[in-house]
Amino acid sequence: MTKPVILTGVRANNELTLGNYFGAIKPIVEMAKERADEYQVNMFIPDLHSFTTPIDHSVLQQQIVQNARLFVAAGLPLDNDNILLYRQSYVPAHSELTWILDCFTGVGEMGRMIEYKDKSAKIGDDRVSVGLFNYPILMAADILLYDAEYVPVGDDQRQHLEYTRHIAERMNSQFGDIFTAPLPVEKQQEFFGKGQALRIMDLQSPSKKMSKSDDTGKGVVFLTDDPTVAAKKVMSATTDDKASVNYDPAEQPGISNLLQILALLRAEPLDQVELEFKGQSSYGDFKRVIADEVAAFLTEFQANLEAVDDNKLLAVFDRSETIANEQANATLLRVQQAVGLRPKAD
Ligand code: TYM
Repeated sequence: MTKPVILTGVRANNELTLGNYFGAIKPIVEMAKERADEYQVNMFIPDLHSFTTPIDHSVLQQQIVQNARLFVAAGLPLDNDNILLYRQSYVPAHSELTWILDCFTGVGEMGRMIEYKDKSAKIGDDRVSVGLFNYPILMAADILLYDAEYVPVGDDQRQHLEYTRHIAERMNSQFGDIFTAPLPVEKQQEFFGKGQALRIMDLQSPSKKMSKSDDTGKGVVFLTDDPTVAAKKVMSATTDDKASVNYDPAEQPGISNLLQILALLRAEPLDQVELEFKGQSSYGDFKRVIADEVAAFLTEFQANLEAVDDNKLLAVFDRSETIANEQANATLLRVQQAVGLRPKAD
């Protein structure tokens, strides 16, 4: 890897949401469009992560390709050699490095992960897989194999990114410099601007994040939602009884979330959007503006999605996976030599 690497992945376990779009896809696609000459941009589909919780395996293949289509519809260029688009399971080094890192990670360390605690509480002990428990380790391998310094993720993945830094530092202090750690979250925020460490909330229950694995989907805007249906979801978003629009996530989580979504859709600073609506008492009028902008955004996004050429996509997978394997195997060999699994180079 001669250029600094920007990397992110979005799990292929359901249709993606506005939260995925603004938290991870948009920041990396913008970098890919504007700065792919200075950086290598890795956008990948973490297909091994897809079934940490139970899924319908008969549709996984379709979902993997659909995820890649969504990245392209969001603007990911396919004709630049500095941009890689690959499927995680086509690069076996991810699994191999995970095993090695597993053996240097404490059970307690993984048990403290909030995502694990939340998800395992939801699905019940007897259905919690070991995969759900140690998926942050696979995520660390995804990042460390490519020496990726910049990793745009939503706020829910912050702890996993911090773990990635810890395990890299731990291994480096025991074995010498084998890994490049990703930058601390604050530095990443500076690099990506405000969109990093973002948490779009569920429209119905604005105290929890908008999640693609939500069962009802009522408070979730999916990128493939019919724009009219999405507009209705916005119109029926939970608000409060204050009858005054303000950005105040603690006191007015529903309204604040809608302001955040509008700011992101318009690519305007949040305080500017807040100023435009501040104190407005008709929540119906306020919601109408956002509903219309969400619908317009989805209409354009879905037109882009229709236009994606699957053959081109498959060719990009092939090219990218060859390069990803070369780069990942070079890092894996470095680690294998360090831990004594391979003879050291002279
Ligand atoms: P996943 O698939 O759950 O989510 C993909 C990305 O979307 C972000 N995100 C959100 N951002 C803002 N608001 C929300 N409501 C919201 N919901 C989801 C997530 O933070 C994430 O950035 N483990 C990762 C996938 C992964 C990965 C990696 C990411 C695997 N390996 C290596 C970066 C680097 C995950 O489960 O994301």
